Amino acid sequence: MLLSAVRFIIDETPRFPQGILSVSALHLFKCNHYHRSELYHYRTNKHFDRKTPTPNLWNRTGSKSIHDSSGNLKRRKMSTDSLHVKITTGEVLRFCEACMQAVGASKDHGKQLSEVLLAADYRGHFSHGLNRLPMYVRDIQANITEKAGEPVILKEFAGTAWVDGKNLLGPVVGNFCMDLAMKKAKEAGIGWVVAKGSNHYGIAGWYTLRALEHGLMGICMTNTSPLSAPTRSKKAVLGTNPMSFSAPAKDGDSFVLDMATTAVALGKIEMQKRKNEEMPMGWGQDVNGITTQDPRDVTDRGGCLQPLGGPEITGGYKGYGLTTLVEVFTGILGGAHYGPNVRKWMSTTQVADLGQMFAAINPECFCDGFQDRMSDLLGMLRGLDPADKDKPVLVAGDPERQHMEKVDKDGGITYHKNLITSMNELAEELKVTPMKLL
Ligand SMILES: NC(=O)c1ccc[n+]([C@@H]2O[C@H](COP(=O)([O-])OP(=O)(O)OC[C@H]3O[C@@H](n4cnc5c(N)ncnc54)[C@H](O)[C@@H]3O)[C@@H](O)[C@H]2O)c1
Repeated sequence: MLLSAVRFIIDETPRFPQGILSVSALHLFKCNHYHRSELYHYRTNKHFDRKTPTPNLWNRTGSKSIHDSSGNLKRRKMSTDSLHVKITTGEVLRFCEACMQAVGASKDHGKQLSEVLLAADYRGHFSHGLNRLPMYVRDIQANITEKAGEPVILKEFAGTAWVDGKNLLGPVVGNFCMDLAMKKAKEAGIGWVVAKGSNHYGIAGWYTLRALEHGLMGICMTNTSPLSAPTRSKKAVLGTNPMSFSAPAKDGDSFVLDMATTAVALGKIEMQKRKNEEMPMGWGQDVNGITTQDPRDVTDRGGCLQPLGGPEITGGYKGYGLTTLVEVFTGILGGAHYGPNVRKWMSTTQVADLGQMFAAINPECFCDGFQDRMSDLLGMLRGLDPADKDKPVLVAGDPERQHMEKVDKDGGITYHKNLITSMNELAEELKVTPMKLL
């Protein structure tokens, strides 16, 4: 119930909420790897701003569509100010670490997880930040994820490694594997690491961002619990299987694609149901495999998510292909669980045994001037004449940069109050000091 409440709240949170956290760049620099990384991206924001005016994405007035009892659409206005609170990044980090330690995770492992959760909220991916904390807490409480230990390299060549994640927290496995891939890329030009025995690792972008700090390109993928149906299938047998790709450009600029390979996350469909609103075509299908706009067909009547692109007619088979590609590079290549064998979403009765892949490539092994050409390409794309003058053309990673910049400016991350209420309940349950609001 707590998880549902938290998911509900997060789904209510605008993609670019109004408040936000911001910590001085100096403070970010002082703290740890995460903060150094974000200082790097803070610089990138400045670069971005010189080229493109920041769109007014977060200063929106909350406006909800609802149906009345007769099914007629109603609209009501509400103040987002009364719905949101601001919390500093340091406080979010402290709270996550305290919760993980309270359930017995090792200090270092709890810290690694907390950094990834904070990064998700900082970058504007609220579905994968504090919102996911209770899931990791429950996994540790249920003894279905290990509290301490080290991943183990099972097989190794100059440019590759196969790793057993030893059922540790996903970010512990992910950081280990990405560091190994980067070390190999520096020595051999490329490092390609595949893990089995891992767990949910948060935002895929966390790992490819690390490669940027070393002037490397990064690739990262994970399989996940089955929630989406292959094109023409009635049944969900594949996950939301996210992938991320990063490439450095000049002066700290970069391209950072970080995406699920389904059209949307399940939480977004649950939200449409709660709001009694239709969902756009292409998000989900009913129990008979027919695209539907009724969210209850997915949440209550045996339907499931559709791949990126929706049904076959709009190219959903390409999303299905990408989801399967992720499965091949992760579960199949790594000898982990794959497809329908992965445990059910939110189940704590079976180990996850997720497969994950992490690659780093040194662009200097190829044609000179990679970063110059990257900057040229990104500048050309951002400089295109937009269809809507208030919505400039972006490249992947720009929305997150804008969000981080807003957070920095405001001095804190803005959360929906309901999420924080849920976090306060978690704090009480775990006897942890709740987060202090700004
Ligand atoms: N670990 C897991 O099991 C899991 C599963 C699914 C998703 N995730 C994570 O959830 C997060 C959200 O995924 P998502 O698919 O909802 O992301 P999203 O749809 O918000 O963004 C996807 C990508 O599109 C880019 N983008 C957004 N708007 C753009 C625009 N107008 N122009 C150009 N590029 C644009 C973003 O920068 C991002 O790289 C990701 O960090 C992902 O890794 C994790």
